[in-house]
Amino acid sequence: MLNFVTFMECLNAPNSTCMTSPGVLAPVVLTLMLVGAGALLARRDRKRFRVLRSRGIWGTFLILAYSVIVLAYFFLFSPDAVMGAAQSDIENGFWITAVLLYGIGIAGLVGMLGFALGGWLVKKKKPTSSTATMANRLVIAIDGPAASGKGTVAKRIAQHYGLPCLDTGLLYRAVARDCVANGAALEDEVAATAAARALDAATLDDPNLRGPAAGDAASIVAKMPGVRAALLDYQRRFASQPGGAVLDGRDIGTVICPNADVKMFVTATAEERARRRHLEHQARGEDISYDMVLADIRRRDERDSARNVAPLEAAADAITLDTTTLNADAAFAAALEIIAAKRKT
Ligand code: CDP
Repeated sequence: MLNFVTFMECLNAPNSTCMTSPGVLAPVVLTLMLVGAGALLARRDRKRFRVLRSRGIWGTFLILAYSVIVLAYFFLFSPDAVMGAAQSDIENGFWITAVLLYGIGIAGLVGMLGFALGGWLVKKKKPTSSTATMANRLVIAIDGPAASGKGTVAKRIAQHYGLPCLDTGLLYRAVARDCVANGAALEDEVAATAAARALDAATLDDPNLRGPAAGDAASIVAKMPGVRAALLDYQRRFASQPGGAVLDGRDIGTVICPNADVKMFVTATAEERARRRHLEHQARGEDISYDMVLADIRRRDERDSARNVAPLEAAADAITLDTTTLNADAAFAAALEIIAAKRKT
């Protein structure tokens, strides 16, 4: 109260001692602390900040309103009490209490305005991209070698979270298809890059892209920096959709989405992958032996891992999911656990 009085005196007649007077310093420091407290609380828990701000402002308004009414009463009907000559102790008590409450009300109001200002300053601050990402979007990057089960896991996760899903392998398969359709050799980087630039995403559902020949051809054009660069934007745009996305491939966690919220590296032994891929071919009525499938998988693993640009490798922060002994349901359940654990941290 004394501080408040000194503060008001200094406002009326500022002088050099005012600057260091505790009567001025204390309210200034207190107000600054409240600005900080408002900013901190608003950053941590904006809902609680709003509740406190509105209760605080209303509370101090009520105190002020009460004291102003009582003070007005004294000024109008009992000026003796104002002059320090109250008729009774009760009247005196009321007068002093009203003066005290007036001081508390003004100080509280200034404090609450400081508190609100703190929260407002934090609100004005642009959220960092990672907070924005974690709050509203979910980008999941799934990498791994051929037939490791990453495509199945990716599709089921995307369905589970209601996210769009991109099998990026199809892009390379389609580039190889278009390159050959244009009459160029698969090894012709200029032609393959031109095909990648002209790629029509609407043609990715072509069933011919699923066969082993397309996979093998894809791994040839996928080695070319020009092809990879031409496909980069499309993949990044896909990943930047409002709610996020699930992408599977070889370089999603390392190159395409290095800031993905969750990164998984899905793998399995070459023999198990060949067994699965062989079953898929049989189901489609394709006549190809297990040994040929295994040889194809080994050749592609070698090509994808040994290439200079965006080789097949797990991102440093990816979690490995070995599906060798897991069926599709178990692999999906394990992937959900990985995502849940990652989102908790
Ligand atoms: O389905 P599978 O795992 O057998 O192959 P895919 O994902 O359709 O990919 C076919 C080929 O495209 C791979 O062998 C890679 O050479 C290449 N690829 C790539 O380099 N980068 C990606 N993000 C996806 C596929």
